[in-house]
Parts: sequence; structure tokens; C-alpha cells
Amino acid sequence: MNFETSVIHLAEKPYSDNIWGDVVKSIHLTSTYQLQDLEPTGHFYQRYDNQTREALEKKLAYSEKANYCLVFSSGMAAITSVIFSIININCMIAAFDDLYSVTKKIFNHFLPKYNIVVDYIDFTSDFKIREDVSLVWLESPTNPLMKMIDVKKVVKRIKENNPETVVVFDNTFLSPYFYNPLDDGVDIVVHSATKYINGHSDCMAGAVMLNNQQLFEKIREYRNNFGNALSPFDSYLVLRGLKTLPLRMRKHQENCFKIIEYLKTKSFVSKILYPALCEKDYISTSVRGFGGTIGFIVDFHRSQIGQFISNLKIINHAVSLGGVESLICVPHFSTHKGVEGIPPNLIRLSVGIENVNDIIDDLEQAFAKASSVQSKV
Ligand SMILES: Cc1ncc(COP(=O)(O)O)c(C=O)c1O
Repeated sequence: MNFETSVIHLAEKPYSDNIWGDVVKSIHLTSTYQLQDLEPTGHFYQRYDNQTREALEKKLAYSEKANYCLVFSSGMAAITSVIFSIININCMIAAFDDLYSVTKKIFNHFLPKYNIVVDYIDFTSDFKIREDVSLVWLESPTNPLMKMIDVKKVVKRIKENNPETVVVFDNTFLSPYFYNPLDDGVDIVVHSATKYINGHSDCMAGAVMLNNQQLFEKIREYRNNFGNALSPFDSYLVLRGLKTLPLRMRKHQENCFKIIEYLKTKSFVSKILYPALCEKDYISTSVRGFGGTIGFIVDFHRSQIGQFISNLKIINHAVSLGGVESLICVPHFSTHKGVEGIPPNLIRLSVGIENVNDIIDDLEQAFAKASSVQSKV
């Protein structure tokens, strides 16, 4: 079944779990289930089992070409569940030197008490990695510097070094529609499904997809006992959002290409960060698209950036990304506050699926107001 068909039809077959022939999976609400036997085998308790959640997991597993999927109450719930299912006291972790700030926070603030060292590596370089590393954490493009790595090449080197190393890849930015990291030898894929997978900025969700049954069982055990699975209502929202992922991703990308052409005409935009602008050496051949988020650096001082942002009329000033509506933020002051190496004049634009001319007009009028501040200084 092709991607577009699977996100609509898979796990939502009429009469599969009700007598009404619903064509849409219902929000299945029960905290517990009547047991059929003293030693029951079927659905047991909502923290472990839920039909709406399971339908979403089936679709998401297929979308990442994985045997298994588990969904969580947020991207961070998914990420921490993977980390804590794999680590042991005193183990070694290696991570890409540019990662989502809160993933880094988990590594830097929470793992040292287990005597775990995280070695940050620039995987875009000719890197060396210790043989005793049990977990490697990758993200590409990175948030917000949009650094790319050729995942296939990087994973090959890691596995040559030690085939037992578990490689995890955060695929939030490209979504399963544009990239399937398992194709490149990655062991576990994680997503903040809050972003493109749900796509409507109305719920938090996380997902983990993988093929290794033992690892799947470990992570499921962690989730079922720690109680951070996705609720039935949010599972329904993500199921609904996922159906339009292919359409949305194509439109996000189409809008990005046009906005990049527009930004190139602005002399005060000194750099544009977008995966399609990276050198080909840094992009795996399995990547099918470049996503919907652009970074750009403006030669503006702080008050001009403030003017620019506050004068936007359509684009919302908000953190997060991947929704149908365009969102803009300045990571240095918000999502990545206090993180080294994030310039204060880097703007992150999550390009929505609006008419691109309206987005460009909005940028144009806000840039004009910000530029006039400069001339008054
Ligand atoms: C790349 C990436 N991974 C993970 C997360 C965390 O996801 P959530 O906010 O759903 O917990 C984010 C959030 O911005 C992200 O950008």
C-alpha cells in the first residue's frame, strides 16, 4: 500500500472493532476492560492497551517501515523513554553536537547523576567514536541550525566501530513522508508527533518506531509502567492529522522554496538555512524531501528583530513547528535560551500551508518596519 493510502485506510477498516461500520476510528474511552478469564490475555487496562492508540501505532509503524511503534504523551516522553530504557549506570553515550535543546538538557542535567558521560560529536566531520558507546543520538536537520548529516554513512561508521551500539534518530523535521531513517541502518526512530505528524498545533504527542523486538519490549515496559502513553483523545487527533501528512508536507516544502527565493532578494538576510541548500555530501540518498522549516540570519540589531516579529500580522510569534499555520521564533531568546552557538539574529520560520503570497507579503511589510528602525538609529 502506498504512503498516501496507508495513512488514510490502515487500521481503520469498517466493522473491524464495532458493529456500526464506522469508516473512522472512534475515540475509545474506557480505563479498564472486562476480563474474560482469571488469567486474561486481551485488553487489560488503558495504561497498557487502547484501541484508538493502537490504530495510530499501526499507521505510524507502516509510515516508518517499522515492525513496531509506541506512541507517547509528548515527543520528550518518547525521547526519555527510549533513553531510560537503554542506558545503564556508567554507560557511554555519543550525540550529535547540535540537538533539540531539551534532549541536550536530559543528557547534561539528568544523566550525570547515573555517572553517564555524553560525548558530543560533530558528525559532519571525519569523526572518531569510542568503542564502548552504547547509545548514539542523531537528529538531522537539527533544530534550529538545520545541520544535515548523511545518516547512511554516519551509521555505517558507528556500526563498524561497534555493531552493538544502538543508534537513535530524531526524525521530527522531515517526517516519515520525506525520510525513513531505518532504511539507513538506524535502530530506533523518534518523533515529536506534536509537529508535522499531527500538523494542527492542537495536541502534544511522541512516537517511537523500530524493528528490534527486544528493544520494543523494553521501551513498552517502560512506558506501560511509567504511564506516559498517548491518551485516546490525543491519539484520535493525531490519527486525523496524519491522514493529510503527504499533502501538507508537499505544500510546506513548496512554500519554503518560494520563501527562500524571496529571502535571497533581501540584502539584510545574510544566511539561509534549509536542507536543500546543504552540500549533497551531507544528505543521505534516501531523503525524499527537505521539510517545512527555514532558518535565516538577519543583519538586524535586537530592537529591529523585535520590530520585525511584533509587526507580523499573519505569521504567529510562537515556538513549535510543523503546523498548518506559519510560526516564527527567535531560538536564542526562546526555545534555545542559554544554549551555546545559537546566534541572537537567527530566525526560525515554520512555514505553514497558507497561500505563500500572503506569507511573503507579511514578511515584506514587517521587514520594512524593522528596516525603518535602523534608519532612525
Ligand atoms: C526535533 C525535536 N525533537 C523533540 C522535540 C520535543 O517534542 P515535544 O515538544 O512534543 O515534547 C522537539 C520540540 O520542539 C523537537 O523540535
